[in-house]
Amino acid sequence: MFTAQKNLFNLNPKVTYLNCAYMSPLLKSVEQAGILGLQRKREPYEVFPGDFFRQPNEVRQEFAQLINAPESRVAIISSVSYGMAIVAKNLLLGKGQNIIVAAEQFPSNVYPWLSLAQETDAEVRIISPPDSLEHRGKIWNEKLLTAIDKNTRLVALGNVHWADGTWFDLPQIRIRTREVGALLAIDGTQSVGALPFDVQKIQPDALICAGYKWLMGPYGIGLAYFGEFFDNGKPLEENWINRLGSENFKELVNYVAEYEPGALRYEVGERSNFINIPMMLTALQQINAWKPQNIQSYCRYLTQESLQILQNRGFWVEDEAYRGAHLFGIRLPSHLSIEKVQAKFQAQQIYVSFRGNAIRIAPHIYNDSQDMAKLVESLLSM
Ligand SMILES: Cc1ncc(COP(=O)(O)O)c(C=O)c1O
Repeated sequence: MFTAQKNLFNLNPKVTYLNCAYMSPLLKSVEQAGILGLQRKREPYEVFPGDFFRQPNEVRQEFAQLINAPESRVAIISSVSYGMAIVAKNLLLGKGQNIIVAAEQFPSNVYPWLSLAQETDAEVRIISPPDSLEHRGKIWNEKLLTAIDKNTRLVALGNVHWADGTWFDLPQIRIRTREVGALLAIDGTQSVGALPFDVQKIQPDALICAGYKWLMGPYGIGLAYFGEFFDNGKPLEENWINRLGSENFKELVNYVAEYEPGALRYEVGERSNFINIPMMLTALQQINAWKPQNIQSYCRYLTQESLQILQNRGFWVEDEAYRGAHLFGIRLPSHLSIEKVQAKFQAQQIYVSFRGNAIRIAPHIYNDSQDMAKLVESLLSM
């Protein structure tokens, strides 16, 4: 079992940061990699053509290892909106067909579908959770499965819901999407890195992740996996480095029709970014050394007792089987207002996210039992 690793970060000791779902803090090692990357441009004559490829290759390798996928299927992207736009561009959708999403998903995984549905006279089915809190996650999953029908072309979901950590049963959803011939695109931003994700088991058509949360990278870089459906698809942009033979800088204007193999055609322009790439690489190396299952177990161990105490005092938390241990919502008992909690947390420098009458808690390896004790004490003293 892990112990807290606050020493690897530069967090202010007065702060209780329980909001990795907003943005991870910087690992000291990632910060250092970024500084060295920034400094490289002092001497451009020391940056060689091979440098445009070497570390991006390593980033793909590390991400492929993390999600258990072939490296050739990994692409470096800029954001979730960029990755989902690739899915949208290659999805064949027509009148009467539908796309399924969960209610209140992050907008980068909703707007592309609303826009595409409008252009094609198709439907976006937004599946809400049940009104009642009892077995909320289980029933929400059942509703999602029931909504998939022979006209479904795509199910676009997170592995956990970004706002409250509700866990979606991707293996079951994959079985159902296969039955009807629909694609499955996963927004892994709020799970990959802290919750194990195995491409061989889930077999999604696309997995799209922003890099700055649970992957602990910098802002402005993301990683994607594209399955066979996308093998001959259309990229969003016609980027020189994604064309076959781009390593040979002398031949760049001998234009070629072929793309680099696998998912490389989908990579974002200037993906060799000499600051973001070494930072992302260092972060992925650290996460692969930790392993997501250990982060998940650590978060479970860290939060279990505190959540039990809160539940006994009238706070509501989703059944453990239907939420992440790294990301979950706590609903307040009726005597507590969200405004009151917000004000107290601000005064005590406890950082979480607030939504409706719920708070979103997102711990990580830098959190310790004192952080949880402070959270519980603060909530129970109001
Ligand atoms: C589930 C989810 N997806 C995506 C994003 C970020 O999207 P983008 O990379 O398009 O800015 C967030 C940010 O909070 C998120 O929570």
